[in-house]
Amino acid sequence: MPAKNLSLSGITKLPWDEFYSLSLNAKADFFYKDSLMFDCLYSSQFNRKLLEYLYKLSDKIRFIAQTKSGLDWLQKLLSHKRAVLYFSQPSTRTYLSFNNACQVLGIQASDIRSSGASSEAKGESQEDTVETIHSYTDLLIIRHSNENIAEKAAWMFNRSDNPIPVINAGSGPLEHPTQALLDVYTLHRAFKGRIDGKTIAMIGDLKRGRTIRSLTHMLSNYKNIKFIYISPSELTLPDDLRQYLVKHKIKFEESNNLERSLKKADILYITRIQDEYDKKNESKKIDYSKFGLKKEHLKHLKKNSIILHPLPRRGELSSEIDHDSRAWYWKQEINGLWIRAALIAFIFKQSKSILNYKS
Ligand code: CP
Repeated sequence: MPAKNLSLSGITKLPWDEFYSLSLNAKADFFYKDSLMFDCLYSSQFNRKLLEYLYKLSDKIRFIAQTKSGLDWLQKLLSHKRAVLYFSQPSTRTYLSFNNACQVLGIQASDIRSSGASSEAKGESQEDTVETIHSYTDLLIIRHSNENIAEKAAWMFNRSDNPIPVINAGSGPLEHPTQALLDVYTLHRAFKGRIDGKTIAMIGDLKRGRTIRSLTHMLSNYKNIKFIYISPSELTLPDDLRQYLVKHKIKFEESNNLERSLKKADILYITRIQDEYDKKNESKKIDYSKFGLKKEHLKHLKKNSIILHPLPRRGELSSEIDHDSRAWYWKQEINGLWIRAALIAFIFKQSKSILNYKS
């Protein structure tokens, strides 16, 4: 079983500002308990060993859940646990897949689907909101426009007498670690475990797309991965991500020409423009039309390439492609349910019983 020899104890000593100013790696080290991941906040918390363990666990859960007796068994595992899904930003698939993952494991889930539906609308601070949620639940799954509130909640809960795990379901434009987890799980299934050496073209709003940062970190667990980042000049990679790639000697190129890169890619990862983060409608001035995949592009793609999109999509991914065998984005969505169930089961230490289950 993958392990880290760290504990939560250190976190209780650091005030928030001091904690927050630590490097990502130093911070990530705090979110372990009994040597295992406790809070899932950043994609950099995953190493290859853990990823492969979660793929195996996810495959086993989806296999067990195929029969009534199997699903009944799974639903007893965590029937003593409750989860709150606090989503201050809109969501369809992340919300539904987490909610259904909880149901598969027998966890009772309740939710807040927008800040407007919570007492934040009456002026309550985000900190008081998460403190209140802490009183009612055993697990917080949080999506928020504030990129820091998931880690602040984890920091707060871990200082309390009753630490409960926090899973980041999307933190502003910064991170979406469980999306990256389902993305790599999909690649693992599509390429039958052979992800090393692949070239991935990431296309679209690289500047504000949280899945871009999270998937870049997640894929850096594999050997000889090459990234081609394709975007309009206004939406190129953020500096910190470019520096990360340079520091870790990961091969990458940047381009504004999609057509030229199609032949080289084993994986195409298309993303929509993230105009919800506009300050003054600046996205309206950007020509995004050259950064979409259309039916006429298919003839240029490798025969065994894979097309992914975190979804939702707009015009950047034509529905005419949906029935091409290389289109994996609907399978990608379904994989999200099972790998999220695996992550929750892992955090609540149910992995061994699941892997040992005999029908
Ligand atoms: N990929 C993703 O996060 O989709 P939702 O916004 O629908 O959850």
